[in-house]
Amino acid sequence: MRKLISGSSIDLGVCYYPEHWERRFWAEDLDRMLAVGLRTVRIAEFAWSFIEPREGEYTFGFFDDFLNLAQEKGMQVIFCTPTATPPAWLTAKYPEALNADMDGHLIHHGSRRHYNYNSPKYQELCRNIVEISASHYGKHPAIVGWQLDNEFNCEKDEFYSESDAEAFREFLKEKYGTLDALNKAWGTVFWNQTYTDWQEVWVPRRTNTDSPNPHLKLDYYRFISRSVCRFAQMQADILRKYLKPGDFITTNGMFGNIDYQRMKRESLDVLMYDSYPNFGYGLDGYNAGDPMKDRWWSRNLAEVRAVSPNFGIMEQQSGANGWNTRMEAPSPRPGQMTLWTMQSIGHGADYIGYFRWRTAAFGTEMYWHGILDYSGRDNRRLREVGQIYEKIKKMQELAGSRYEAKVGILKDYDNVWDAQVDRWHGRVESESQRGLFTAMQQAHVPFDYVYMEGVAGAESLRQYDLLFYPHGSILTKERMAILEEYVAGGGKLVMGCRTGYKDENGQCVMEHLPGLAAKLTGTDIPEYSFVAPDQNRVMADWEGTKIEAAVFNDLLAPLPERAAGDEAQEPKGAVGLHDASRTAAAFWGRKETGSEEGSSGAKVLAVYEDSYYAGTPALIGNRYGKGEAYYFGGAFGADTARVFLEKLGAAEPYGDLIGLPEGCELAVRGKGGDRWFFVLNFQPQPARIELKTKMRDLWTDEILQGVQELEGYGAGLYFVHAI
Ligand code: GAL
Repeated sequence: MRKLISGSSIDLGVCYYPEHWERRFWAEDLDRMLAVGLRTVRIAEFAWSFIEPREGEYTFGFFDDFLNLAQEKGMQVIFCTPTATPPAWLTAKYPEALNADMDGHLIHHGSRRHYNYNSPKYQELCRNIVEISASHYGKHPAIVGWQLDNEFNCEKDEFYSESDAEAFREFLKEKYGTLDALNKAWGTVFWNQTYTDWQEVWVPRRTNTDSPNPHLKLDYYRFISRSVCRFAQMQADILRKYLKPGDFITTNGMFGNIDYQRMKRESLDVLMYDSYPNFGYGLDGYNAGDPMKDRWWSRNLAEVRAVSPNFGIMEQQSGANGWNTRMEAPSPRPGQMTLWTMQSIGHGADYIGYFRWRTAAFGTEMYWHGILDYSGRDNRRLREVGQIYEKIKKMQELAGSRYEAKVGILKDYDNVWDAQVDRWHGRVESESQRGLFTAMQQAHVPFDYVYMEGVAGAESLRQYDLLFYPHGSILTKERMAILEEYVAGGGKLVMGCRTGYKDENGQCVMEHLPGLAAKLTGTDIPEYSFVAPDQNRVMADWEGTKIEAAVFNDLLAPLPERAAGDEAQEPKGAVGLHDASRTAAAFWGRKETGSEEGSSGAKVLAVYEDSYYAGTPALIGNRYGKGEAYYFGGAFGADTARVFLEKLGAAEPYGDLIGLPEGCELAVRGKGGDRWFFVLNFQPQPARIELKTKMRDLWTDEILQGVQELEGYGAGLYFVHAI
């Protein structure tokens, strides 16, 4: 048995649905898979009825036969708990298991993921099917791991059943203890929403303005996340009793309203992701003109890495997208399956399972293609899998190596969910997340997402030279203490507009903004505004470089007092200080600060050039301990983000080793002194890349240097020892 994602191998596999085919296909299908290097199959995630066809009636023969055949053939199996699709007998008898829409109408049987996490009856039936499955199949030698459910929160990530309303009340009682505390946290005095009895409290429901209480909504997202995590843990705890030593527990995909840091900690050995880069076209092709398209999936892979540095791909796209009613996108072009496989491995995947072996000839997904079309005949995509396998054989030494990044983007679920509730927050956040990702791609900067929930102290941030925390609207003292220590120890931290204006309940703080971030950034925000829709763009000047301060502008002033422990040293490139501080002082009608000897560590680095605040500070840099904190008054569009990377010395970190066009991504995996450079050409046209030192092409074993041509949709993998 090869243990998957254990640091000893990189493996290929495929999703298979024995229940969709006549048994006569099984043996030949497994042989054909093994012939192209697919040595693991994932099965049974939607097959509850094949184990419990009627309540309390169990049949094990079907999967026994399949597992025995798999073992005979030398095929490994990832087995699933089938809870994503409760059977018709179950939901007919126990409608309380169903999810409901916001008006309380039940979501019926006939698609998938129609259940809710909080129904005590559904939980009981799930505990039972998981126990029955694990106790019967758990010791089977073909099984190497278990998948919980399928894609928690896919399709629907909001829940409005009776059970959810009750569980929400329990969650709130635990959190607040008293209704008084809840009323205060939710600001219910506004519009006379004050609660006098717990039964008056509901999950969000339709309201007259379609805008329910925002603080309630924030708690509701936290509640959903807790519900999913508990549901996963309930299953994982049962599985652990029966698993063979070394078998793993995972789940697949990443969806809304789930704190994956928590789920990983409580229930998973490793997270797997379902990577469908042709979703980059948008659900019905409306993003076709977006040059990033499938490159966005590198962003998703970075999110997966934030949970599991080495992860697996449970479903890697191998055919066209297509439900019978929507989600259309073309078949992968020649080379793209290889490109996407290398995109996943470049980001840290040590297992790639393709979705799916044969395309279903019936049902909602009959146009969602797998490797083979309906007839099962050999085809171009199968040949490409065989070629990928030849490459994978030469990549075994990479197993367990990690994606390497010196730049991080900080996140936390308080702010992720607040940005869903709050339009002002959401707009700056999405602008900056897109902008930062695009700039990092184009300037070939490998980066990590770092979730504050997983950061115990400043030490775990030390590996990063530069961190962006673009719009941490909700700040906490604990998180700020970690960031202050990180900067004091020599780190660089960049914060953007709308930082620090909320507390943990999502209420606006009444301190001077940016609240808890004022001391670290040496910044004061006397006023702020949306960029007016008739203003077009607000530009700022940073040492002669123009940057846009997009979406929203905090109007800044350097703080007069130097924060404790600061040295009166200017951040690199501080210019225009005297003029800008003077203008700021005049604009805010107060005594000039910041330009006199020793008065402040905060320096004005850029000034607005447009609107009524032209000439006032747009960017402040503050020397803090051994490091630097920056406060930028806008959101980070791609061009602005690029300037930050360049000015702060983070662009093209491997520029002296490899020269790349913007159309190529660079992903780097490292282990010891070894580095593997993945060059991913997402463009249809060939790319010229320059190897500035000798590198070994891992697939041909050739030692290369100088200009190389990488074909359209091509991937290159170059190895350098001891750099
Ligand atoms: C995934 C899911 C699969 C299949 C696939 C194609 O989200 O896990 O079961 O639905 O997408 O739509």
